[in-house]
Amino acid sequence: MSLPLPRSDRRRRPTPRSHRPPDNARRNATFQGGKDARRVGHTPPFPSKPPASARQSPAAAAAAAHSRLASPARGAMQPDANSPSLRLARVAAHLNPQRPQMEEEGAPALRPAACRAKGGAPGFKVAILGAAGGIGQPLSMLLKMNPLVSVLHLYDVVNTPGVTADVSHMDTGAVVRGFLGAQQLDAALTGMDLVIIPAGLPRKPGMTRDDLFNKNAAIVRILCEGVARCCPDAIVNLISNPVNSTVPIAAEVFKKAGTYNPKRLLGVTTLDVVRANTFVAEVLGVNPRDVSVPVVGGHAGVTILPLLSQVTPPSSFTQEEIKYLTNRIQNGGTEVVEAKAGAGSATLSMAFAAAKFCDACLRAMRGEGGIVECSYIASQVTELPFFATKVRLGRGGAEEILPLGPLNEFERVGLEAAKKELSESIQKGIAFVNK
Ligand SMILES: NC(=O)c1ccc[n+]([C@@H]2O[C@H](COP(=O)([O-])OP(=O)(O)OC[C@H]3O[C@@H](n4cnc5c(N)ncnc54)[C@H](O)[C@@H]3O)[C@@H](O)[C@H]2O)c1
Repeated sequence: MSLPLPRSDRRRRPTPRSHRPPDNARRNATFQGGKDARRVGHTPPFPSKPPASARQSPAAAAAAAHSRLASPARGAMQPDANSPSLRLARVAAHLNPQRPQMEEEGAPALRPAACRAKGGAPGFKVAILGAAGGIGQPLSMLLKMNPLVSVLHLYDVVNTPGVTADVSHMDTGAVVRGFLGAQQLDAALTGMDLVIIPAGLPRKPGMTRDDLFNKNAAIVRILCEGVARCCPDAIVNLISNPVNSTVPIAAEVFKKAGTYNPKRLLGVTTLDVVRANTFVAEVLGVNPRDVSVPVVGGHAGVTILPLLSQVTPPSSFTQEEIKYLTNRIQNGGTEVVEAKAGAGSATLSMAFAAAKFCDACLRAMRGEGGIVECSYIASQVTELPFFATKVRLGRGGAEEILPLGPLNEFERVGLEAAKKELSESIQKGIAFVNK
C-alpha cells in the first residue's frame, strides 16, 4: 500500500487513466470519500493496480467490496470509504433502479440526504415528479443545465433509469439521481428545496374531462402527500392539469398534513405567458424577449385572461387584434394538440416555460430581488380562494401578490367569465380531497 500523501500532493498526483471512474462518478465519489476520510482520520491510498471489483458489474463490485470490508476475517481493517471499488459502487448505485436490493446485498448506495455537487457554488436540490414524460424529459435536461441546481432527482413510475443515465452524461454541475416507482418516492423527495410536478396524463382521444380529472387528481394527491412527509418546506411548482383544480387539491392535502403554506404552492401558468409574449411580439413585429404580457385568472380556456392593456412595452391594439390575440392565447394548447395530430400535447414549450419559472423561483430563493412572475396561487385579489396574478417571488416563495391593475371593458367582461368557470374548478378540487 502506498504511503499517505500530503493533501496538496494528493490533489496533484494523477490517478492512472485506467483506474479513473467517469467524470460525474469522480465528483460524487470524491465528495463522499473526502468527508468520510476526514471523519475516520483515514488517508485514501492509491492502489498500484485496479481492484478486481472494477472489472465486475457495478452491483457485484459494490457487494464484493462491502463484504470484503465488513469481513471479520479482515476484522481490524477500517472501512476504506475512498477505495476505488467503493467509489465505483456508489456511483453505479445512482443509475441502478434496484437500489434497495443493492443495499440489501450489502452495497452502500448514495443516500439522497448526502447528495451534494462538489466544489462550485452551493445550489438547490430540485426534484421532478413525472420526469420520464413528454414534459418531464426536456424539463430534466433544461434543469441539468441550470447552474443554480446542484442536485436533480428524477422520479417517475416508469423509465427513470434511462432518462437519468442519459441526462447524467451532460457535463454540467448538477448531480442527477433517478427514482423509480412508489417505493422510491420518499427517497426522491427527502431534503428537496423545490419540487416540480408534471406527473399525470394528458388528455387523450375518447377520454372525458372527468376521467382525466379523476386520474390526475389521484396522482397529485399521492405525490403531494409525499411532499408533506419528506420535504414539507419545499416550494412546489405544480404543472399537472387541470391546474385550476390540482392546486386546490394540493392545498387540501397539505392542510390535512398540517404543512400548508400558501406562499410555497405555485401553480405553473408560465406557458400562457410565454405564448402571450410570442403572439403579441408577432403582432407588434418585435423580439418576444422584449415583451411582457400579464396573464391572470387560471389555466384553461376562458379562465386564461391576457391583460393586453398592460403589455410591456406599452402598446395599443385594435379590437380585432385583441380578439385574435385573446382567442389564440386561450387556445394555444389546442393549436399544438391539433398540429401534433394525435401524437401528444404541448411538451417542449411547456418544459421551457417550467424551466423558466423554476429558474425565477431559484433566483428568488437565492435572494435576488424584484422577480415577478404570474402564478396560480391562493389569493385575495378576487373573492375566489385561488387566482393567477403577478406575484413577487422571494426566499420563501410568493412573498407578495400584486393587484390586477386597471382593466378595460373587454378585460372586465373576460374576468367575470373566468371567475365563473374557476369557481367550479376550485370547488371540484376541494371536494375531491374531502369526499
Ligand atoms: N401547466 C401547464 O401549462 C401544462 C401544459 C401542458 C401539459 N400539462 C399537464 O402536464 C401533465 C403531463 O403532461 P405530459 O405531456 O408530460 O404527459 P406524459 O403522459 O407524457 O407524461 C406524464 C408522466 O407522468 C408519469 N406519471 C404517471 N403517474 C405518476 C405517478 N403516480 N407518479 C409519478 N409519475 C407519474 C407518467 O409515467 C409519465 O411519464 C399532464 O397533466 C398535462 O395535462 C400542463
